[in-house]
Amino acid sequence: MTDRTDLRVAVLGVGRMGADHVARLHDEITGAQVTVVSDVAIDRATAIALNAPGSRVLADPFEAIVSDDVDAVVIASSSAAHEAQVRACLAAGRPVLCEKPLTTRAQTALDIVTAEAELGTPLVQVGFMRRFDHEYVELKKRLDSGALGQPLLLHFAHRNVTAPAGYTSVNAINETLVHEIDATRFLLGEEIVAITVHSPTANSAAPVGLHDPLLVLMESASGRLVDVEVFVTYGAYEVRAEAVGERGAAMIGTTRRSTDFREYFQQAYRSELQTWVDAVRVGTNVNGPGAWDGYAAAAVCEAGVESLRTGQRVDVHLTPVRASHPQRG
Ligand SMILES: NC(=O)c1ccc[n+]([C@@H]2O[C@H](COP(=O)([O-])OP(=O)(O)OC[C@H]3O[C@@H](n4cnc5c(N)ncnc54)[C@H](O)[C@@H]3O)[C@@H](O)[C@H]2O)c1
Repeated sequence: MTDRTDLRVAVLGVGRMGADHVARLHDEITGAQVTVVSDVAIDRATAIALNAPGSRVLADPFEAIVSDDVDAVVIASSSAAHEAQVRACLAAGRPVLCEKPLTTRAQTALDIVTAEAELGTPLVQVGFMRRFDHEYVELKKRLDSGALGQPLLLHFAHRNVTAPAGYTSVNAINETLVHEIDATRFLLGEEIVAITVHSPTANSAAPVGLHDPLLVLMESASGRLVDVEVFVTYGAYEVRAEAVGERGAAMIGTTRRSTDFREYFQQAYRSELQTWVDAVRVGTNVNGPGAWDGYAAAAVCEAGVESLRTGQRVDVHLTPVRASHPQRG
């Protein structure tokens, strides 16, 4: 059911994530309709557009961004394409929900934070959907309530069934660990200032180029320690988080079962999208992780890749940006 006040959305990139976003926007989200489906693979765009009757297909994402029948944009194209597409959204004044990563480099992500701050209007939300997952939201509430006392440690495990062909240890940091990086910043409400990536005895089943598992130690600005097991050829899907405070611990991710991350986190994806649509419709544009969060995550990933290479602890340096609007997250 659509009406004329619906947010008219262009979805750019309709592979696994984008196709889900199109279907979700059409079937589950209120207050939005997909008007444009865009992908450089035009056949795929044409097939996916059938799931959103009334939408049209454009091969050129930049044409989609400036189209008269588009109010806002969802970017789910390949990671390397995000930077130019987010920049085009900023130039056109279009609110945008960009799948993680915001960009593939810390510097280019910082450039986007700066460009958005200069505009004076928040336009960029980044798809760190764990912030919308009911278990993470509950854990955050428990931490903030003081029920566990002062938080001291976080333990994470991120285990995947199998890695996609060509997946490397660098991908394990940029694509897999990145979720725990954002979850850490979300749960603790502070920045990560250092990271050390350990490469322990490797799973002999892991392909060449992928040292698996990795054990990552991160340090927060106030001195809390966070460990993350990243194990992408584990044979099952398990995503766990445990917060340890002065008066007790709380763990999430122990009861849900799925071998597919899209099914496992479907509530989070739906809530993320609905929250974003609602925010754009009332003119707030962002209600969740923003450009700064995308930048901070990219900076930690970059330091993590350096630590992977050198085996050393690497400091994370963030360049402050004077925002002309409040940074959310
Ligand atoms: N939030 C999450 O949990 C999560 C999970 C998986 C992937 N992602 C992110 O979502 C994005 C897409 O991942 P995916 O798994 O759907 O990948 P995918 O390869 O299945 O789909 C990417 C699509 O983008 C299209 N594309 C490539 N370059 C483009 C361009 N310049 N303009 C328009 N379309 C372009 C491709 O043709 C393809 O259809 C990636 O950035 C990835 O990191 C996020």
